[in-house]
This record gives sequence, structure tokens and C-alpha cells, in this order.
Amino acid sequence: MIERIDALRAEGERALSGATTAADLEAARVRFLGRKSELTQILRGLKDLDPDARARAGASANETRVLLETLLAEAEARVRAGSAPEIARDVTLPGRRPPVGHRHLIQSVILEIQQIFHGLGFSVAEGPDVEDDRHSFGALNMPVGHPARAETDTFYLRPDVLLRPHTSSVQIRVMEATQPPVRIICPGRAYRNEAVDATHFYEFHQIEGLYVDEDVSMADLKGTLERFFKELFGPKTEIRFAPSFYPFVEPGAVVDVRCFFCSGKGCSVCGPLSGGWLEVLGAGMVHPNVFRAVGYDPRRWTGFAFGGGIERIAMLRYGVPDIRLFYESDVRFLRQF
Ligand code: PHE
Repeated sequence: MIERIDALRAEGERALSGATTAADLEAARVRFLGRKSELTQILRGLKDLDPDARARAGASANETRVLLETLLAEAEARVRAGSAPEIARDVTLPGRRPPVGHRHLIQSVILEIQQIFHGLGFSVAEGPDVEDDRHSFGALNMPVGHPARAETDTFYLRPDVLLRPHTSSVQIRVMEATQPPVRIICPGRAYRNEAVDATHFYEFHQIEGLYVDEDVSMADLKGTLERFFKELFGPKTEIRFAPSFYPFVEPGAVVDVRCFFCSGKGCSVCGPLSGGWLEVLGAGMVHPNVFRAVGYDPRRWTGFAFGGGIERIAMLRYGVPDIRLFYESDVRFLRQF
């Protein structure tokens, strides 16, 4: 009997020290200290033993019970400390989601414009933001001293290295690298030494288009832009061309879209003096001097080009009142789009 008690003690010790959960503990308690446990049976049967054996077995069995009870209390404390209170673990609560970002509005508008021109057979070209004088001005028929340079004053890193004031520089890079036909659009950043206000910022985005082939006419330019603006602003969109001057096109034009807020009646978006038209692009037929600068024969090749600001298009379309909002990285603004 003494051996049996010793064996129970060893087993009980092992079970209690190995217990890691409340369920383990309860199982061990029932098995070694419960009312129907072997140890309890032994203690109950002591009275039937002869006095000598009863004294020895009784001492051993009681000692074992006290030991296992102590170990049980310790193990309970250990398991409780290792687990957080039940209430902190409500597994029915929804998880905490890390915030998921999304595209900046300017980027979404660029992608949309790219998609429209993709459907018209144009591919996307890119060029560097840090440009040289030749690609920004010289090859675009703006030699040193040309007054149009002042209109697009920008930031100079060195006298001949600057932040491009327009994406027209990419026209030159593409024509230098490929032979006609050319059918590209180039979205990207442009920089200007501007007095900052609600509609001017020293950094902004433009989209440039260039189409070069034989027998390209102004009708192709008008048809392409009409298609583009109808896709972008809706099938009822009207556009018009007004004569304008850019050194790298001849003839040159500004392209207006009829105000889609007031349908041309005049409102706070298009302004009282605009007659209901919003200026959105510069455009024209590529100047022969530009073709000469890139080594294209101006007697054979003809083309059109256009360029305009992305922020302006986004501001018109979404009613954004101030261009600076695009650059403040305030998520309360950005989240809306
Ligand atoms: N580069 C001109 C600008 O920045 C826009 C333009 C592009 C005009 C192409 C004509 C042709 O305003």
C-alpha cells in the first residue's frame, strides 16, 4: 500500500507541474484529489487496517494529500497568471484593421486619361523632371533670349540644368529617340517659379500629347481632343479652339471646354467674364523648326501637340477650390476621392 501511495504521489506531482490550462488542472484534481480518486479511497479504507499498518499508511497518505493540494494551488496560480482575464479576449469583436491607402486623386485622373488615349492608339512616354536647356526650350523653338522663356520661368540647378517647366520636353526626347509615326502622351510633373495662390503652385502635373505622321491636319487634332473630352467629361461636352501663341506650334490654340456646371450660363466656377468657357489645354500643329531640331524632315512630316494641367482638370471635375490641397497630404482631403 505504501508503494501505491508513493506511486500516486509521483504521478500527481508530474501531472500538476505539467498542467498549462485550467482544463488540465481540473482533470488532475479529479484524478488525484477528487472524491472518487484512488488516494481518497485509500484514506477512507484506513479504518479497516490493523493499527500498525493504519498508522504508517495513514501518515504517508495524508502527507501525499497535503503535498498534492499545495501543488494544485501553486499550479492554479501559475495558470491564472499566464492567461489574460477572459473579458479582454472577446473573440466575437471585429479585428482592428490596419488603414489601407489608395491612389492620390491626381494619379487616378492621370490613369483615366491614359486609358482614354490608349483607346485612341496612343502609348505612354516619360522623361526626366530635371532637364537641360535644349529639351525644355532650345529644341522647342525658344532660343536663348526668347521672351516666351520668361513666361515659364522655373528653378535652375545650373545655368543649363533646370526643373522642366512643362512636359513638352518629352516631345523632343521621344522624337530624338524614334522615327515617325509617333503617337504618345506623357504625364508628369512640371515646375514653375509661380506666385502661389489658389490656382497656381510651383509644382504641378501636366499631360502632353504628340502625334506625328504624314498628312496630319488640324482636323485630326480637333477630332482627337473632342473625343478625349467627351470621354472624360461626358458625351454632351462641347469644346472650342481660340487662336493662341506657343513658339513650338503653328498655328497655336487654346482649347476651352464649355462649363459643365452651368452649361455656359456663367457661374462661380467658370467666372463672370469667361462667357461660360473653361480653358483646359494649349495645342497646335508642330512647328517646322521643332522637326528640324530633332532631325525630322518638315516637308514630309506633319503633326499636332497639346498639353495641359492635370490639377486644373481635377479641380474642375471634383469642385476642388484650391490647388494647394493636393500637396498638403491631409488625409481628410485625400480620403474623399
Ligand atoms: N507646353 C505648353 C504649356 O505648358 C502647352 C502646350 C503643349 C501648348 C503643346 C501647345 C502644344 O502651357
